[in-house]
Amino acid sequence: MVKTTISVIKADVGSIAGHMCPYSKMVEYARERLKEAVEARLIKSYYVYYVGDDIGLVITHDKGEENPKVHELAWNIFKEITEKISKPLKLYAAGQDLLKDAFSGNIKGMGPGIAEIEFEERGSDPIIVFAADKTSPGAWNLPLYKIFADPFNTAGLIIDPVLHEGFIFEVMDLREGKNVKLKTPEESYDLLSLIGTVNRYVISRVYRAHDNEIAASASTTRLSYIAGKYVGKDDPVLIIRAQAGFPALGEVLAAFITPHLVPGWMRGSHYGPLMPVSFRKKQNIVSYFDGPPRVIGMGWQISNGVLVGVEDTEPVDLFDDPVWEHSRRIATEIAVYMRTMGEVMPARVEVEEMEYTTLPKVLEKLKNRFK
Ligand code: F6R
Ligand code: MG
Ligand code: MG
Repeated sequence: MVKTTISVIKADVGSIAGHMCPYSKMVEYARERLKEAVEARLIKSYYVYYVGDDIGLVITHDKGEENPKVHELAWNIFKEITEKISKPLKLYAAGQDLLKDAFSGNIKGMGPGIAEIEFEERGSDPIIVFAADKTSPGAWNLPLYKIFADPFNTAGLIIDPVLHEGFIFEVMDLREGKNVKLKTPEESYDLLSLIGTVNRYVISRVYRAHDNEIAASASTTRLSYIAGKYVGKDDPVLIIRAQAGFPALGEVLAAFITPHLVPGWMRGSHYGPLMPVSFRKKQNIVSYFDGPPRVIGMGWQISNGVLVGVEDTEPVDLFDDPVWEHSRRIATEIAVYMRTMGEVMPARVEVEEMEYTTLPKVLEKLKNRFK
């Protein structure tokens, strides 16, 4: 049986009015190019979204993960947008996330963020993609734990016999580039002791223990490590399969009701609450202190490798329910509160995590005055 692959590839290649949101022609250009790729039978379907200053390509195909043709397509689209639109119009930070000149077979490590998932379609397969701006991959640690390991979030862990067997979390040590697999509920304390350190240990994949079926896949790129210095935000994406032996869609979304603090706000150097927003209502503009960090949720069915949305491939806007106004209000309150602390930790991230800092210069200047 042919397997279906979903590749979500995103990059910040320029934006309007600072690091705010992309220009509409950029999004249109990506749609045109992906339409051609469907016609050329390279891919099966697509959807283009944006959140903050990032553009994301959701691509479905049957070529498996890490397929050079699919990766090259995405790379070329971002490159062409940069050359044809962002640079001529002097858009802000044009081509920001394209760290290499030439494509070399795999987009991983070249700047754009990527999450991919390959599976055999079930009788019916609901798919969710989350995309965040002004934060980093560790932002998913807490919600992923809640979704797949916390029975106070996911009732199915107690009630559904398949979920009851637990899940296997693959955790990546971003500094060492190594992975470890941990099974919940048995190893949940070990898992939690790792993933609390969000800037080092990041959940990259989740499998259900019942049959090792893939349940979730997250982007784990850290531009900071790629470039050897901090060059931008990693603004992560996450793909989750829901229902019928996986957490219900409502259990997946419930993990976002109380906005948690994530690193990556303003200049990549502050903690802020992750605010769930509607993309249809255009709440995906990051305006207060370049944020606060936010997340959009997109929902589809997948049928024979093709995205089925509410209209064509247009996804359900998962945070467009009045209930999320509660979260947005809390996130706003936390954001305003965090700002009262200015550059004092823990509002500001640890010095090693800062995008850039004046500290070495200040220390140099004061060198002889330390007595
Ligand atoms: C960029 C970002 C922004 C910038 C900030 C300063 O993704 O998160 O918060 O870091 O706007 O940008 P520059 O240095 O380009 O003026
Ligand atoms: Mg930017
Ligand atoms: Mg961004």
